[in-house]
Amino acid sequence: MCGIVGYVGPKPALEVVVEGLARLEYRGYDSAGVAVLSDGKLQTEKRAGKLANLRAALQANPRSADGIGIGHTRWATHGAPTDGNAHPHVDEMNRVAVVHNGIIENFAQLRMELEERGCKFRSETDTEVVAHMLSEQLTEHNGDLGAAMRSVCRRLEGAFTLVAISEDDPGLVVAARRNSPLVVGRGNGENFLASDVAAFIAHTRDAIELGQDQVVELRADSITITDYDGAPAQVREYHVDWDASAAEKGGYDYFMLKEIAEQPRAIADTLLGRVAVDGTLTLDEMRLAPEELRQISKIVIVACGSSYHAGLIAKYAIEHWCRIPCEVEVASEFRYRDPILDPQTLVIAISQSGESMDTLMAVRYAREQQSRVLAICNVNGSTIPRESDGVLYTHAGPEVGVAATKTFLTQLVACYLVGLYLAQVRGLKFGDEINAIIGQLARMPEQVEKVLNTVQPVRDLARSLAEAKTVLFLGRHVGYPVAMEGALKLKELAYMHAEAFAAGELKHGPIALIEDGLPVVVVVPSREGRSVLHDKIVSNIQEIRARGARTIVIAEEGDESVRPYSDTLIEIPAVPTLLQPLVATVPLQVFACELALAKGNDVDQPRNLAKSVTVE
Ligand code: G6P
Repeated sequence: MCGIVGYVGPKPALEVVVEGLARLEYRGYDSAGVAVLSDGKLQTEKRAGKLANLRAALQANPRSADGIGIGHTRWATHGAPTDGNAHPHVDEMNRVAVVHNGIIENFAQLRMELEERGCKFRSETDTEVVAHMLSEQLTEHNGDLGAAMRSVCRRLEGAFTLVAISEDDPGLVVAARRNSPLVVGRGNGENFLASDVAAFIAHTRDAIELGQDQVVELRADSITITDYDGAPAQVREYHVDWDASAAEKGGYDYFMLKEIAEQPRAIADTLLGRVAVDGTLTLDEMRLAPEELRQISKIVIVACGSSYHAGLIAKYAIEHWCRIPCEVEVASEFRYRDPILDPQTLVIAISQSGESMDTLMAVRYAREQQSRVLAICNVNGSTIPRESDGVLYTHAGPEVGVAATKTFLTQLVACYLVGLYLAQVRGLKFGDEINAIIGQLARMPEQVEKVLNTVQPVRDLARSLAEAKTVLFLGRHVGYPVAMEGALKLKELAYMHAEAFAAGELKHGPIALIEDGLPVVVVVPSREGRSVLHDKIVSNIQEIRARGARTIVIAEEGDESVRPYSDTLIEIPAVPTLLQPLVATVPLQVFACELALAKGNDVDQPRNLAKSVTVE
């Protein structure tokens, strides 16, 4: 949520910053802005709407930059997405410019104090208070922007990443963070700052992750990091193992299309290196000792959005393989209901970005209650894994499209691995049993590829439904969360009313919604192993069809029993029941994406959404 970039070095600063913003635009895209020093004078440009509007404004009014610049793409919290509320914000003297990601919770109090001192505000944002406070503190600290920032941060409450430049010290970019992401890119004679490494990966792959409550002072040839009191701070340096091409569209019109196509590779990469020579499962990023895992009496999975759906699927596998009770809860509800947690509870936090504030707060709460926390995350060095006891990284590579696709499938793979690992350390499954399932997982990239090669009829179907007002989704067992994910994708991308129900619940209410021609997507469980479920859902399909529904049935290839009741039959490869979500989700992703494209929507940047939601 909100993308932030800072640069200092010999390259044309404006270009570096705008290019960085383009790579971060998925974080927020309701407005964008930049600030540079041009012949020592602070200049800003900002525009409501997508980055293209800012680019046009910069083209209409070209300016030079002195090798320093900051930029921002916004996802509005305080104040509508207008030119005036866009970042950067400046003080009254136009001496200092600041960009911000997060929410300053005590901004009303701070604004009142500043107004009492005669300060005139130009926007409705919480951020503007920081510009005015920095200006006051610059005077107090003789133009020392680092000292000014530390002093301001000590007064701020809430979550923030702040990046500022000032005319007082034209070679310096200063940034601070609390509960909001910020990474430094270490270049050669140049340095970078950004919300995530995608912004500077074209220039350097050497990164430094900032800790909580730290301030960084960045010059072309130095990086100084302190706490808010000015004491030197501990940081972690790391090398990013993917390059700029991984964050490009690679010939696809949209990132989402590319990311859907990358799913077989992403699954394979997430499985890579998990089995030791002796056949045992090793999860080496797991800093939880087997002894601790043997003590676990309950698992609670917390997550948001698609990650929550991955958690719902994980419950089926973990309870089945490990016989440990497993609850799944949306992170934003979790800590407010006084959940029962103790040192024997393992909390699994699933988050693609590792930055979702709701999930982060749930993690912190769980740790306060002495529970052990394991993160499943796609972004190396992000906050949630850093604050957890262990982490299992999904190796999906960067995901730019706002709607999760390849990261969702890799989260499922990671959940399966956690389930199998727990079964292994707790002695519930023999090595050969675990290896058999690992073998099935290893075949999944091929099966997903097969789905991708046969989805053209799904595209045609989606186009034919572009005018539909509502689509319902039904599933049973693991197919129920898959149905939920299908409905979420459709809401996110096509802005359509879509709802998922457990097929068995249909008769308890939702069946009243069925009317002539209403499209209903049904995810049919595999016939093998769960035949009871299979037969029940076939009856459910008949029930809705009898009431006029247009049935779109996703079933295993060769499942002839559903054909007579399917207006459209989408076949997927036959795979073990618990793994079916890996193949059944893919047509639903394609369906939502294609339907959204048919409606002319931007599938990479759906309205009102942000990929990484760093506010509660
Ligand atoms: C946002 C995104 C969703 C995502 C959710 C959780 O709402 O739009 O696509 O599933 O956040 O994100 P996380 O990074 O925690 O998995």
